[in-house]
Amino acid sequence: MAIRRIYTGNSLCLYKKAKPVTAFDERLAELIDDMAQTMYDADGLGLAAPQIGILRRVVVIDCSEGRNELIEAVNPGVVYVAGEQGGLEGCLSFPNESGYVVRPNIAVMRAQDRNGVEFEIRAEGLLARAILHECDHLDGKVYKRLVIPTPDSYDPEADLQ
Ligand code: NI
Repeated sequence: MAIRRIYTGNSLCLYKKAKPVTAFDERLAELIDDMAQTMYDADGLGLAAPQIGILRRVVVIDCSEGRNELIEAVNPGVVYVAGEQGGLEGCLSFPNESGYVVRPNIAVMRAQDRNGVEFEIRAEGLLARAILHECDHLDGKVYKRLVIPTPDSYDPEADLQ
């Protein structure tokens, strides 16, 4: 396993559409392991392959407090969303920045694991936000395009989950 370089800011790879994974081989396993290690090392909640310069549809996510509930998603798609949540969002590709983003509060993601086996996750709150944020990366979309002014009514304490 290795920690990969995280591309930031105006790096072109952050704004390109990633290609589907077709080979579920040792190379994919290595990519996923490296992505997880890179995410944990940077203390992030998620990482998408384009952030390390790989234009493939792979994301890793861990929103758990114990940092021990890793989700590996290959060729993920969001198949259902509902509700609304607003909160401050950040990204490992834009260190030391955050912005207020409104997203659905519930998201269902369908994806494949590293062996190509399909699975589905129904997520709420922070995990739904992370799934939507990471899947956007695969289409070359960064959260900053969704940032709106923080509403006066926003209570950061209530946002901590
Ligand atoms: Ni991000």
